[in-house]
Amino acid sequence: LDTTIRPGLEGVVAASTRLSSVDGLAGELIIAGFPVEKLAEKATFEETVYLLWRDRLPDTVELENFQQELAARRSLPQVTVDLLRAAAAQPVPVMDALRMAAGTLSLDATASNDQWSEAKMLLARFPVIVATYWRLYNGAEPIAPDPTLSHAANYLYMLTSQRPTPAQVRGLETYLNTVSDHGFNASTFTARVIISTGTDLTSAIVGAIGALKGPLHGGAPGPALDMVFEIGDAQRAEAVLREKLEQGERLMGFGHRIYKVRDPRAEVLSSAAARMFHTGGDMALYNLARSVEETAVRLLEEYKPGRNLQTNVEFYTALLLHGLGLETELFTPTFAIGRACGWIAHCFEQQEANRIIRPQSVYHGDRGRRWKEESQRP
Ligand SMILES: CC(C)(COP(=O)(O)OP(=O)(O)OC[C@H]1O[C@@H](n2cnc3c(N)ncnc32)[C@H](O)[C@@H]1OP(=O)(O)O)[C@@H](O)C(=O)NCCC(=O)NCCS
Repeated sequence: LDTTIRPGLEGVVAASTRLSSVDGLAGELIIAGFPVEKLAEKATFEETVYLLWRDRLPDTVELENFQQELAARRSLPQVTVDLLRAAAAQPVPVMDALRMAAGTLSLDATASNDQWSEAKMLLARFPVIVATYWRLYNGAEPIAPDPTLSHAANYLYMLTSQRPTPAQVRGLETYLNTVSDHGFNASTFTARVIISTGTDLTSAIVGAIGALKGPLHGGAPGPALDMVFEIGDAQRAEAVLREKLEQGERLMGFGHRIYKVRDPRAEVLSSAAARMFHTGGDMALYNLARSVEETAVRLLEEYKPGRNLQTNVEFYTALLLHGLGLETELFTPTFAIGRACGWIAHCFEQQEANRIIRPQSVYHGDRGRRWKEESQRP
């Protein structure tokens, strides 16, 4: 038995996967055979889901059927809406509401038909749960899903009650595709551990939401945007960022455990943001963000030479989602809507050649303690 401990399982290879490849030195992300740059900009989200779940792109008829099957599963059971109402009365953060509501979905009879139905039902309802909760949380009544709209378009519609423009839908689909899968990140690994015990898909997905909710995983785009707003004017970028670095603060949206060059997802999202802001957005904010990025990368090299602290996915996630009109509290839940696709794909893959995931530990507690009766304990 090899008893070397690798904290955080860093550098440990736990499985092989056909779903995505993350190369942190080359700055390359491949999703089901496509470079993220290509897939994110071309595919609808439904196409990406089909690709990851079935390992090939759908033809026209398959895609049409798949879109309809997802759209037909959107409506939430009454018990789920009741739970969201109770959660909004507290109120709890959106990710907590999503976790609790996702757990109730197994009360729905369609959930138990077969695993494919369960997968489609879970994926289809994530945005519906988030949008329904968001409206209740803000004192508004929920809007019924529109089955004629795509997954992404329906999410924006249910949040805002406005039909989104094609540019907005494209912007959101590019984001959802970009975050659809990313190797053995913590929430994906969580889902695989859970499904490896032979339990159901809903249990695995609820566990994954819990993992994504933590600030070390899904929680940084809000602060990245706050930093851009705090700077406010490109002329102030250098002074504000220098001050933060002098005080030992971390610049949000920069640095990554695996990527030591610019995160390829940052490029995809910055181009998507540029396109979206061009067609009726706040171009001044986009230009400010570019300038903050350029200054931050330069100063990080000055203060942390050789660390290769580059822009990560969160920086442009913030800008893109803000450009879509999403409040920062919706950033992590929207990440979950995209990543749900990868979680489910990984569960299927784990089941194809399952072995329960059960690592070992080294005991360092006491041995040979002597039992004392309660009255004799100090
Ligand atoms: C993402 C992150 C947690 C990766 O951490 P990591 O791989 O453990 O990196 P380390 O903590 O080993 O950092 C290496 C050095 O760079 C510094 N550093 C890392 N990211 C930094 C940042 N964003 N701003 C300033 N300094 C940073 C660390 O302080 C450390 O310096 P030191 O050795 O002098 O103490 C880290 O870069 C970070 O906190 N970034 C900001 C938050 C963020 O954007 N998170 C979203 C990630 S997708």
